[in-house]
Amino acid sequence: MSSLLFSIILIISVIPPISPSSSSSSTSPSDIHALSSFLSSIHPSSIPPFSCLSSWNFSSDPCHPSTPSHFLCALSCSSSSPSRITSISLDPAGYSSSSFPLSLLSLPSLSLLSLSSNSFSGPLPPSLPSLSSLSILDLSHNSFSGPIPPSLSSLSSLSSLDLSHNSFSGSIPPSLSSLSSLSLLDLSFNHLSGPLPPSLPPNLLTLALKANSLSDPIKSSTFRPLTKLEVAELSSNSFTGALGAWFLLLPSLQQVDLSNNSLTSLEVSAGAGESLVAVDLSYNRIEGGLPVGLAAFPALAALSLRHNRLRGGIPAEYYGGKKGTPFRRLFLDGNFLNGRVPAGFLGKGAGAGEVLTGSFGDNCLASCPASVGLCSPVQKPASVCKQAYGSGRRGS
Ligand SMILES: *[C@@H]1O[C@H](CO)[C@@H](O)[C@H](O)[C@H]1NC(C)=O
Ligand SMILES: *[C@@H]1O[C@H](CO)[C@@H](O)[C@H](O)[C@H]1NC(C)=O
Repeated sequence: MSSLLFSIILIISVIPPISPSSSSSSTSPSDIHALSSFLSSIHPSSIPPFSCLSSWNFSSDPCHPSTPSHFLCALSCSSSSPSRITSISLDPAGYSSSSFPLSLLSLPSLSLLSLSSNSFSGPLPPSLPSLSSLSILDLSHNSFSGPIPPSLSSLSSLSSLDLSHNSFSGSIPPSLSSLSSLSLLDLSFNHLSGPLPPSLPPNLLTLALKANSLSDPIKSSTFRPLTKLEVAELSSNSFTGALGAWFLLLPSLQQVDLSNNSLTSLEVSAGAGESLVAVDLSYNRIEGGLPVGLAAFPALAALSLRHNRLRGGIPAEYYGGKKGTPFRRLFLDGNFLNGRVPAGFLGKGAGAGEVLTGSFGDNCLASCPASVGLCSPVQKPASVCKQAYGSGRRGS
């Protein structure tokens, strides 16, 4: 009985809905108005023939164009009645306008807005409407400038915010931390400065802040709540001080790039993170010895500490005692490491050494001739090493 009822319901639900024969539901007039004010805000000379915007012709309905060559691309619409604009993804045609296209933010059903790789300029508006559907905002590769407005936090459904490759300046507003759905934040290649805010969006998977002028030490109070963070791309900034042992232990962390900063020490404790795969701390000012503890991270396969101020020997654990996967990439060149290279690394024949890419060159290592691939480039001159180690002692 109930299964018969179920199959009837099934049959009914499989029958496609009958669409009205004449005009299917047309686009909401207020959405049409927003699109046409957006189009008129674009410098006409920046709209090339055959681009998406050159096909926008309002003698047709945007969601149901009567002429096949109208509204060829960039738009998606809901199937509701009236139709609402749900996404705008512009082609990288070089469109320009001298201010942020505010009209687009009056589209209440917009869930995706991408203006990426065009020539939009000017500041973002200081106050943004609370677009409750907007989930992806991509303004990357344009010429936007001025501060990142704190009111971005009113876009409460954002899951992805990409403002990379613009000219934004000032500091990262603390209000962004209220974006609890945000999983990707990319502010790379801007002119942002100052310390990181006290807190960041708590559910980030990817944080990319590369190539700005962000400064000060990396604080545990900022990062510890980011328990889902997998990728931290923080290279080419001015971060200083010690990288605390807690950092590499962030529970989901897989890839860290903190190269080209001004870090002065690296702390590594026992109790290694299981997910960490790649760490790049090259081009900093890290002093002290190579942390033996790095050999205890079972998934860690790529490590670069090149061009720092490291001293002492290469721990034997890096070859024979590496837990889990062996190192596949190990760049330690450009330091003041001394003593002998653990034999396995230079051993002939089979072994992990064969699949290892890296360099131990430009150090103070004994028996590491530049003719051996891993030992190139040549070690530092004896005089430099003597000076670095004071007494002239070269072994460990
Ligand atoms: C828009 O389309 C109409 C009808 O196809 C055409 O007459 C008109 O010239 C078009 N407008 C533009 C600006 O291309
Ligand atoms: C290092 O960072 C500075 C900015 O802090 C940048 O100008 C420079 O190009 C970066 N160098 C490399 C090799 O990435």
